[in-house]
Amino acid sequence: MENAKKFSRMRSLGIVTVGASALLMGITAYNNKDRFFRTFVMPVVRLLPAEASHNLAVLACKYRVYPVSDYQDDVNLNTHFFGRLLSNPIGIAAGFDKNAEAIAGLKDLGFGFVEVGTVTPNAQEGNPKPRVFRLSEDKAIVNRYGFNSDGHQAVLKRLSETRKQENFNAVVGVNLGRNRDTMTPVSDYVQGVKVFGPVADYLVINVSSPNTKGLRDMQSKAKLAELLEQVNEARSGLEKNRNVPILLKLSPDLEVSDLNDIVAVIKRKKSRVDGLIVSNTTVSRDNLQDTNWTAEAGGLSGEPLKARSTEMIAQMYQLTNGKIPIIGVGGISSGQDAYQKIEAGASYVQIYTALVYEGPYLVEQIKDELSKLITEGGHSNVQAVVGTKSKSYLPK
Ligand SMILES: Cc1cc2nc3c(=O)[nH]c(=O)nc-3n(C[C@H](O)[C@H](O)[C@H](O)COP(=O)(O)O)c2cc1C
Repeated sequence: MENAKKFSRMRSLGIVTVGASALLMGITAYNNKDRFFRTFVMPVVRLLPAEASHNLAVLACKYRVYPVSDYQDDVNLNTHFFGRLLSNPIGIAAGFDKNAEAIAGLKDLGFGFVEVGTVTPNAQEGNPKPRVFRLSEDKAIVNRYGFNSDGHQAVLKRLSETRKQENFNAVVGVNLGRNRDTMTPVSDYVQGVKVFGPVADYLVINVSSPNTKGLRDMQSKAKLAELLEQVNEARSGLEKNRNVPILLKLSPDLEVSDLNDIVAVIKRKKSRVDGLIVSNTTVSRDNLQDTNWTAEAGGLSGEPLKARSTEMIAQMYQLTNGKIPIIGVGGISSGQDAYQKIEAGASYVQIYTALVYEGPYLVEQIKDELSKLITEGGHSNVQAVVGTKSKSYLPK
């Protein structure tokens, strides 16, 4: 067993080393690294099955084979994040680095912050494969991973080790979930707060993934109130000065009445949250061009989710009077998309699916476009844009 593991590790290392050398030679030979990635690397990577290319991308970030971004963030992208300073407001969304293997590599790509997870208390394999699908025509993904996770202890160890690295100063959030067969769903989250509260810059209560049966029901008023009360209690039991921010990640499939209920819950001191993440993937298939995928079970992300997620950001911004910071996520693939989410009410944004189609240099491109749009809009800083056109993004 040990030998098999060693062999598999050596093989991964071999693949990454050969891949990295070829990549670096290619980049050196080609003076436009962005175009090189879009034209050569990403189409080749997309020849692999979706989960295999996801794993390869995580390995590439883990072994830091991408060249470090030398892009200097414009000062108008600098922002505050729960007492920390971010060089830019763009993060990698949960689900890419589920097990905290690739944090430093992701920071190298130019992200302002990194969210790892979803992490479950005990290790679990998730759903049977295949469970990730590219919908290229729609620039979308359907996934039903079902919280494949190395579990709290393995992820804690990796995160703690990463934090000890020299010059490490990344803002890292940990996205918490529950085990599939748990009999005590609330205490799975409570355990997550206790385990990761001391090492995370923020925690996310993820009750919005569509791939774990019954999970999204935890967004209902009574269940959410109970969950968040216990989560808050667990946080207050953490060591002094570890008032770790707690964010709630929501599904885009909620009705207005659900949103009102959620706001009523999070306004109560006992069940408050410090921020919202809007949104997770959708079970809706309404906006698909390629209808072959309509029946594929799982959560849909990318372009078809974009408008709904922006609309829901505006709804939550209005319902909370702009008092609770929102991380906007769903279908962002350009600076314009990010800008619109910020106008709708997001203070920060995250991306995932577009990276699969556009490659890692998308991060620099989005930052560049966003910075220009902020200036063109007559704003001094990204924070000044937040919520400025919120009402215009509300559902018609
Ligand atoms: C393959 C895949 C796996 C995901 N896994 C998780 C996860 O474990 N936890 C979570 O909260 N969100 C997860 N998400 C959702 C993303 O974090 C994000 O909310 C969603 O994809 C919308 O952003 P996007 O359109 O930029 O991808 C996953 C998304 C994808 C595509």
